[in-house]
Amino acid sequence: MNDNGNNIKIHETAFVTSMFRALNENLSQDFHAKLWNDPNAEQWMNDYLEQVSSEEVSTHCLRNRYFLETVKNAIEERDVDVLINFGSGFSMYPFLLSDKLTNIEIDKPEIVNFKKNQVAKWIEVGKLPKRDLHFIGVDFSSNYEDELFSKINDIKGNRTSFILIEGVLFFLDRRETDRIFNFFSSLQCNGGYVGSASFQNSIKDSLAFKKLLEFFNRKVSKTKASDYQTIEDDYYRNKAGYELIDHQDYFSLSKQYRHEVKLERESILNEHFYLLQRQVDMDLEE
Ligand SMILES: C[S@@+](CC[C@H](N)C(=O)[O-])C[C@H]1O[C@@H](n2cnc3c(N)ncnc32)[C@H](O)[C@@H]1O
Repeated sequence: MNDNGNNIKIHETAFVTSMFRALNENLSQDFHAKLWNDPNAEQWMNDYLEQVSSEEVSTHCLRNRYFLETVKNAIEERDVDVLINFGSGFSMYPFLLSDKLTNIEIDKPEIVNFKKNQVAKWIEVGKLPKRDLHFIGVDFSSNYEDELFSKINDIKGNRTSFILIEGVLFFLDRRETDRIFNFFSSLQCNGGYVGSASFQNSIKDSLAFKKLLEFFNRKVSKTKASDYQTIEDDYYRNKAGYELIDHQDYFSLSKQYRHEVKLERESILNEHFYLLQRQVDMDLEE
């Protein structure tokens, strides 16, 4: 999927993210990520690990582990029936979770079309189990709301959902982010969850972020720090209609899963993970 041997498109970060998860299955608990291993992306991944931060394998594995276990608990204990993954890339949650779950994966049309074909092939030859899985192609910078709302509601009905958005907000601007969170609240009834991953502004002072920027400038296109969105805790704490019920980061998850952090803080892209729960008055419920 590369333009040429050197460059990689932003959405191809989805390949690299999956390959990180495959490098430590024990930590990520993603036993299907290796299906996405891609020789073009492998060179890019190795350069990234060497030139940006070698801790990126573990940060991505722990992110997957946290959301996998959080969704699993929500299914088992809290009546969640539908997982909606915004900017799903090549993540494999549907195949790691209960076959009773309905899964909706939303990403750019070229990503979902490619994934849909690959997944169908792997199901046919028995490499993946069958799942109730729906793909929707959308660009979050377009006017997607009305059409996407009816497509999702046709599948979801009035069932309780878990919405996931990870690895995406860094690439959206604040207006697109506000829009997407408003859209989440229009979709969810009382008790629904949103799991979100983002970076805080302080990351921009770290050595790892400086290296990331240099790397992207060399490999993707000319960008500056302000092109990458960071989000502070207050954004989540003050989300109308939601309560912030959990907040983790790479360091807290490392403790939780007894994982040894290898590099200095400065050299780690420390991502934060938030779990929000929808709280609406019953008479406002959809
Ligand atoms: C780093 S990948 C993360 C994929 C997946 N969430 C994961 O954690 O493995 C970022 C994903 O966001 C998607 N994305 C970025 N900007 C988008 C946009 N404007 N509209 C739709 N999808 C977008 C990309 O196509 C890509 O699949």
